[in-house]
Amino acid sequence: MPNNIIKARISDAKQMQSLINFYASKDLMISRSLNEIYENIRDYWVYKENNKIIGCCGLHIIGWDNLAEIKSLAVAKTKQKKGIGKNLVEACLREARTLKLKKIFALTYSPGFFKKLGFKRIPKSKLPHKIWAECCNCPKFPNCNEEAMIVTLNR
Ligand SMILES: CC(C)(COP(=O)(O)OP(=O)(O)OC[C@H]1O[C@@H](n2cnc3c(N)ncnc32)[C@H](O)[C@@H]1OP(=O)(O)O)[C@@H](O)C(=O)NCCC(=O)NCCS
Repeated sequence: MPNNIIKARISDAKQMQSLINFYASKDLMISRSLNEIYENIRDYWVYKENNKIIGCCGLHIIGWDNLAEIKSLAVAKTKQKKGIGKNLVEACLREARTLKLKKIFALTYSPGFFKKLGFKRIPKSKLPHKIWAECCNCPKFPNCNEEAMIVTLNR
């Protein structure tokens, strides 16, 4: 794993929020409040260069069925297509294996990116109802065309 990829710290939260909310303002992902990032900081991996957050990605455990979600994945516009997004998701998948999670899913407008990492499309209806709690707060709900992608981790 590249040295630049580390677990997020509380002091990273504001820069993470700016990055996430930049894409949220373009309707590419769900916006996050600072409080939400603080409370879930242990979920996140970040990619840092010279103390600046270039990318972030969260692994959020869903609560049953050994399932977790990849959340709030974002890489700064000028640093895309350099493998940073892939490295961030791989850090989450490594952590997921350590935690003995079995299935990891993402809701995304970039299914091609996740496909390259071994995820497969599944109908959203196959995911537990709990995930809709967040969707209900989204302005696009229920007419959102995000794709659900899932990967089963082998031991
Ligand atoms: C999606 C995103 C995180 C990808 O990050 P990135 O650092 O540019 O991606 P990588 O360089 O690690 O790409 C890994 C591979 O996926 C491909 N890829 C990247 N984005 C892709 C996309 N949107 N669709 C299909 N393939 C994509 C790359 O070409 C690369 O392929 P290769 O291994 O054959 O060279 C980034 O584009 C982003 O922040 N987008 C805006 C926010 C967003 O949409 N987040 C996802 C929410 S789930």
